[in-house]
Amino acid sequence: MERVNKIPIWFMRQAGRYLPEYMEIRSKNSDFLKLCFDPELAAEISLQPIKRFDLDFIILFSDILVIPHALGQEVRFLKNHGPILNRISSKKELNYNNLKKSLEKISNIFETIKILDANKGKKNLIGFCGGPFTVLNYMIEGGTSKTHSKIKKFITNKKDEANDIIKIITEISIEYLKKQIESGANYVQIFESWAGLLEKEEYIDFIVKPNQQISEEIKEFSKHTKIIHFPRGSRNNYTIFAEEITCDVLSLDQTYPKGLPSLLKKKGITVQGNLDPQELLKEGGCIEEKTKEVLEKFKKNDHIFNLSHGILPKTKISNIEKVIKVVRDYETSK
Ligand code: CP3
Repeated sequence: MERVNKIPIWFMRQAGRYLPEYMEIRSKNSDFLKLCFDPELAAEISLQPIKRFDLDFIILFSDILVIPHALGQEVRFLKNHGPILNRISSKKELNYNNLKKSLEKISNIFETIKILDANKGKKNLIGFCGGPFTVLNYMIEGGTSKTHSKIKKFITNKKDEANDIIKIITEISIEYLKKQIESGANYVQIFESWAGLLEKEEYIDFIVKPNQQISEEIKEFSKHTKIIHFPRGSRNNYTIFAEEITCDVLSLDQTYPKGLPSLLKKKGITVQGNLDPQELLKEGGCIEEKTKEVLEKFKKNDHIFNLSHGILPKTKISNIEKVIKVVRDYETSK
């Protein structure tokens, strides 16, 4: 039977540097974390892409690295350099002994969500956190890394220590998401952006188990809240992820096993993602065609349209508009 429901659409990093209205606010606020903790401005930024494109989801403007900050690690964002953290190599170096106190440090974010909740109209409101392993990766690497050599060594040579810190991150992330839900988020996304670094037992221990713990506890807390998982780079492990983890929506990058869409359909999991953000940088490229290809690939699935990763800063607004038009037209042509 033909499905006739519309396909909702949003973009990872929809509030960001490709938007002139974001850059205007950013130019007056040199401290990125401070901006994340300013409820009025963070809410305004979250709503910028909605005002411009009428997207179906509002995502909270914040960052996954507010969690290391809450745990007492120094986190800074340098211009054109990404995040810098004062590296740690054991949990003792964290200033963490009281979950409530740590969450208090980032409680302004809940005020942002409350403002968004009051202004969301019929839109969905996504709260988020980083996946525990991805957050650990930044804490150990001290920022963005090409080789990820420090985190790889850490989980091999100091597995117990790694597990201890993962436990702390998982625990605080669950409470953090619960507060976001209480404040008005009806979806939460867990960005496990570096899942692709791990295989086999390490994938089970550091990706599957913590993500499942988050899912279970969030579902227990609020069964109507939708959970989106994004274990980026999982390749064949996407199947294990889908089999093992309670999830409403699975966000895909570009590489996934052939049978995954039918497995997701069988399990009642919605597909999200897959369009390469690089396609949106190409001049006179075939953005429309690529967008249609993604729509066709998942036409038998419940589908939320999105990219395989965040919008890149050099993306032209007109290219975003092209993608949106194809998705909207596709829904009405059925
Ligand atoms: O998606 C959204 O619009 C919501 C806001 C959001 C941001 N970061 C804002 C941001 C979300 C959901 C994130 C998630 C995030 N942050 C992830 C997971 C997704 C992914 O990209 O893999 C990660 C790994 C981070 C950590 C982070 N934050 C990095 C590595 C960087 C620098 C590089 C980059 O991509 O910009 C950031 C900075 C950041 N986070 C910016 C924004 C808008 C740019 C900051 C600026 O204005 O200079």
